[in-house]
Amino acid sequence: MHCVVNNSNDIILEAKQLGKSFPSPDGAISVLNGIDFELRRGESVSIRGESGSGKSTLLNVLSGLETANTGELFWNGQKVSGRSLSWLASQRTAYIGFVFQSYYLAPELNALENVLLGARIAGRINSTVKDRAEALLQRVGMGHRLRHSSTKLSGGERQRVAVARALINDPPLVLADEPTGNLDEATGLAVMDLLLELAGEEAKSLVLVTHNPEFAKRTQRQLTLHLGQFS
Ligand SMILES: Nc1ncnc2c1ncn2[C@@H]1O[C@H](COP(=O)(O)OP(=O)(O)OP(=O)(O)O)[C@@H](O)[C@H]1O
Ligand SMILES: [Mg+2]
Repeated sequence: MHCVVNNSNDIILEAKQLGKSFPSPDGAISVLNGIDFELRRGESVSIRGESGSGKSTLLNVLSGLETANTGELFWNGQKVSGRSLSWLASQRTAYIGFVFQSYYLAPELNALENVLLGARIAGRINSTVKDRAEALLQRVGMGHRLRHSSTKLSGGERQRVAVARALINDPPLVLADEPTGNLDEATGLAVMDLLLELAGEEAKSLVLVTHNPEFAKRTQRQLTLHLGQFS
């Protein structure tokens, strides 16, 4: 079958000249300085850069968790800049899955409940979603720990649960901020394998922030952030 490529509908994330600064006692700190960025459906990109170069700030802005001071952001061609917090929150749950360095699982919930929490926030709990949560946990190798309290899981296990949680709402886009930063080398490699495999299997677009050059090479495109700009 012939597929149309390079259709503008395939651009699921677009940033135009994004700028972000934070107030500080010594005056405004300019963290992002004119970021232009496009991501296609199913494409994976890694971002490296020295500590403080603005990688986490960029992911927060791309996800709408932080608002840029200047520039424009589009999700799936829809303009995001200027939207209300409630619009952002409802769209984000359907559109973006996150994986953070420090997992951020809810400590009072078990593995399965943590994955379902993502769906609960999106208002989508039903038996299909429960089946998907279990299947995702099986897929990340956590099928034997479904009802284990998240506080009793190892770091690698927590991050596997976090990967399943990121995918529960079937978002087209996954943002991962140093997802292996807290893990030892072997565990980090296993989690990274899983994240890249799953993103591929489920045809997700992936933005991966990592300090590890070997991991960065495994995405289709590699970017480096320096002083709040891509170099
Ligand atoms: N809310 C904030 N208020 C003030 N300054 C901030 C805020 N968030 C980030 N910064 C500053 O912005 C700069 C970029 O921070 P950011 O967390 O984006 O860096 P990073 O590239 O993710 O670094 P790392 O590799 O250490 O995680 C830093 O100098 C930081 O101090
Ligand atoms: Mg960071």
